[in-house]
Amino acid sequence: MGKVTDGLLLPFQLVLVLCKLGYAAVTAPLYSTSPSFFEHVGNAGVRSLLGDLSPSQLQLIVPPFLDAWRSLCAQNHLEAPIVPIPDTKASGFWIGDPRKAKYFSLYVHGGGYVIPGSEGHLKMLYKMVNWSDGKLALFCVAYTLSPEAIYPQALSECVEGLRYMFSLPQVRPANTLLTGDSAGGAIVLAILSHISAHPHPDSAIVKPLQLEGGQSLKSAILINPFISSSSARYASIKRFQYRDTFNESTADAWLTAYNGGKSGFEDDMYICPAHADESWWKGTKCGEILCTAGGEESLLDSIIDWSEKYRKGMAGGKRRGDDAVKLVVGEKETHIMPVLAPYDEDKLDALGEKSTEGAIRAWIREELAS
Ligand SMILES: *[C@@H]1O[C@H](CO)[C@@H](O)[C@H](O)[C@H]1NC(C)=O
Ligand SMILES: *[C@@H]1O[C@H](CO)[C@@H](O)[C@H](O)[C@H]1NC(C)=O
Repeated sequence: MGKVTDGLLLPFQLVLVLCKLGYAAVTAPLYSTSPSFFEHVGNAGVRSLLGDLSPSQLQLIVPPFLDAWRSLCAQNHLEAPIVPIPDTKASGFWIGDPRKAKYFSLYVHGGGYVIPGSEGHLKMLYKMVNWSDGKLALFCVAYTLSPEAIYPQALSECVEGLRYMFSLPQVRPANTLLTGDSAGGAIVLAILSHISAHPHPDSAIVKPLQLEGGQSLKSAILINPFISSSSARYASIKRFQYRDTFNESTADAWLTAYNGGKSGFEDDMYICPAHADESWWKGTKCGEILCTAGGEESLLDSIIDWSEKYRKGMAGGKRRGDDAVKLVVGEKETHIMPVLAPYDEDKLDALGEKSTEGAIRAWIREELAS
């Protein structure tokens, strides 16, 4: 579809979304498996928005990540300094104070490579800084979205974002993390591959990055990473197709858009890292990874499979590798609840590590707050 057609069709597509929402409301007593009526209807609405609108249409209704950040700063009467990332067309910005922080994380937002980062993402990051007692600062990359960006452009921009971070004197591998949710989690794993045993083959675009002294990064936080769309491999993507916020055809459409309109991404371990076998992960230059999944999300089986292979690969047959990744599965949760439906602190106290957000809070307090 052309951009003009996309715009003209948008109102009709939005009416379709409303119809599907109405249908979900009427049939909820028959079909709902969600904890509440509102969650059932809300998820059906989001599922239709994400599945029935094209990437360009989604970009017409969701403001760019930098705009979301500017407007959140304006609401709080703060300046919004933007950092151009050297050697790219992309920019980034800091959440938290990199002059005072002790730990530094790259942050790669999710959205299927086609939807901009949102206020929900930013609010989650502010909470993460708060849980670390101000010791964490995150550098957010507003990478170019698909279909404008063709793989591996976004990956390359994120690698350059990390290179920029290392250009600051206080940032060293041992105090650096990589954080990403959903598609951002897949980019984080692609970066880990790139800086460890598998530099990206397209080295003219994704330039090599060697960590100082061959050291490892402190850690990574993968929030419900989107690392496969395959129902042939992973049954959960069908099991939760009427429960979660996107289904298999939507996931496939996003990966196709990311891959420049081409299929074949299933065999690319930088796009579908869940498909890499355990040996791929041997010697990954990273300390313990915190990884979350929702107990009722499409991606559940792929995330469990990845974590088991990662553990074995990192153990290299010697130890069990339990300390390579801590996997937390949130009870009754769908995709990226800390972004889409965050809890208040009291609710997090009650739920603890039964919720992905509670697990992230506990981990940050333990690992980064001292
Ligand atoms: C996935 O959801 C979209 C949006 O509601 C819908 O158009 C599509 O038919 C669904 N795909 C499958 C395989 O159910
Ligand atoms: C974290 O949030 C609490 C509650 O809003 C606030 O009192 C505290 O000062 C914040 N801490 C930091 C380091 O921002």
